[in-house]
Amino acid sequence: MTNAAISIKGLRKTYRGGKGQPEKHALKGIDLTVPRGSVFGLLGPNGAGKSTLINILAGLVVKTSGQVSIWGLDQDQNPRQSRAAIGVMPQELNLDPFFTPRGALEVQAGLYGVPKSERRSDDILELVGLSDKAEAYARTLSGGMRRRLLLAKALVHHPKVLVLDEPTAGVDIELRQMLWTNVRKLNEQGMTIILTTHYLEEAQEMCDEIAIINHGEKVAQDSTANLLGQMDRRTIVIVPDAPIAELPDSEGVTATLREDGSLALHYQSNATSAEQVLESVREADIRIRDVRTEEADLEDVFLALTSNRSDDPPADDQSKPRRGMHRVKL
Ligand SMILES: Nc1ncnc2c1ncn2[C@@H]1O[C@H](COP(=O)(O)OP(=O)(O)O)[C@@H](O)[C@H]1O
Ligand SMILES: [Mg+2]
Repeated sequence: MTNAAISIKGLRKTYRGGKGQPEKHALKGIDLTVPRGSVFGLLGPNGAGKSTLINILAGLVVKTSGQVSIWGLDQDQNPRQSRAAIGVMPQELNLDPFFTPRGALEVQAGLYGVPKSERRSDDILELVGLSDKAEAYARTLSGGMRRRLLLAKALVHHPKVLVLDEPTAGVDIELRQMLWTNVRKLNEQGMTIILTTHYLEEAQEMCDEIAIINHGEKVAQDSTANLLGQMDRRTIVIVPDAPIAELPDSEGVTATLREDGSLALHYQSNATSAEQVLESVREADIRIRDVRTEEADLEDVFLALTSNRSDDPPADDQSKPRRGMHRVKL
């Protein structure tokens, strides 16, 4: 496993319950290998255990059991070296309000033992777009600027692996753009990137490989392309000539009417042919004005992998926006 950026075996975390609260099994024995050089997505709904896993990597949360190696260095045997190999941009905005961005980077560099001659605070501030705020107090920075500073802090010791925990949750478009541009740039320079997200589109767009976790368990890990290819679910969308009175009813075809009046027909291509799907439309006396197909996306993959597995209600109960119109959130 020495070629892995991160290697995790049997990782468990049980949070002790406080005052009458039961204990919480946040990670239930996770095995995970992150290839060097990848942009790796850790995908899962709120409460899945993503931050717990990230914080264990960062040395911020103490694992209950299991093995963690970062860049081939066992976290228990080589705590200092393994920590030096990783930089984490946390989900929480935890900044000392009395430091300026430049000051915060210098302190961070000091903590990691980066010699003065190797410090690149100004370059890093430039990279994240904070040059003109280098001497402003952290408490005067906007939420977006604080996030930029958190990314900058994660980079001061030139880590091999950069971890971003929900970097785009609630941020504006400009900041998202900055993050993705930098993620791509740093990855091209050889840095392994791990990002957690509950935005499927984001994982699909940014990541070479994805692991899906749910309720503290890994439910899938594969290349993004394979995960999508694994889904045999096809959709044909029909725009009818006139409003539809009766939905087609045919074995192997699930028909749903969409808000815009179009008809979505889902089927498995290994069991049902497109011809059979169209036949069911004709049988229902629907005249076709237009027709198109839709690819399976990660939402389908996720639903297929996690259905029948939930043992808790979802932490985030927001109803899903329609695919293609908004970013789809798990
Ligand atoms: N410090 C803690 N004490 C107790 N439970 C926690 C603590 N941190 C997280 N949890 C619980 O562990 C589970 C996983 O949380 P978390 O790792 O933050 O998930 P995610 O980042 O995927 O949303 C959740 O049920 C959460 O409530
Ligand atoms: Mg989290």
